[in-house]
Amino acid sequence: MEKTFIMIKSDGVKRGLIGEIIGRIERKGYKITKAKLFQPGRELIEEHYMEHREKPFFRELVNFILEGPVMALEVEGESAIEVMRLMIGHRDFKIAAPGTIRGDFANSLTENIIHGSDSVVSAERELNLWFN
Ligand code: TYD
Ligand code: MG
Repeated sequence: MEKTFIMIKSDGVKRGLIGEIIGRIERKGYKITKAKLFQPGRELIEEHYMEHREKPFFRELVNFILEGPVMALEVEGESAIEVMRLMIGHRDFKIAAPGTIRGDFANSLTENIIHGSDSVVSAERELNLWFN
């Protein structure tokens, strides 16, 4: 069994999509093993997105996440990292396939509803960071 880190971003929480997203994860047969709804601080978000700190969109991305509470989740299941990325869909809402979370709900490149770890290494790092 694999564990991955999922964050419902501030736009997803504001739009009332917590139930929809958790429902999809549970209907897939995956388990929510940890959950935390809270207002994160800047330090945590900057650390979370440190791989992007030199990118031109970094400031805007961090500021957007800080606009409200987020829901942090630990999700467990067979190949959960790869499959959750598939269920989330492409980062660009114009490319994300219908049926994926971003394909169904996102309409902005920055505000794209949800984050999911992209590898075993990042899942471990992110779960430690958010649930240490
Ligand atoms: P990235 O890690 O490339 O995507 P993913 O979330 O699918 O792992 O980028 C992280 C987030 O940064 C992405 O979800 C949305 C935001 N972003 C922008 O705001 N503008 C951009 O040009 C890019 C590439 C990403
Ligand atoms: Mg990423």
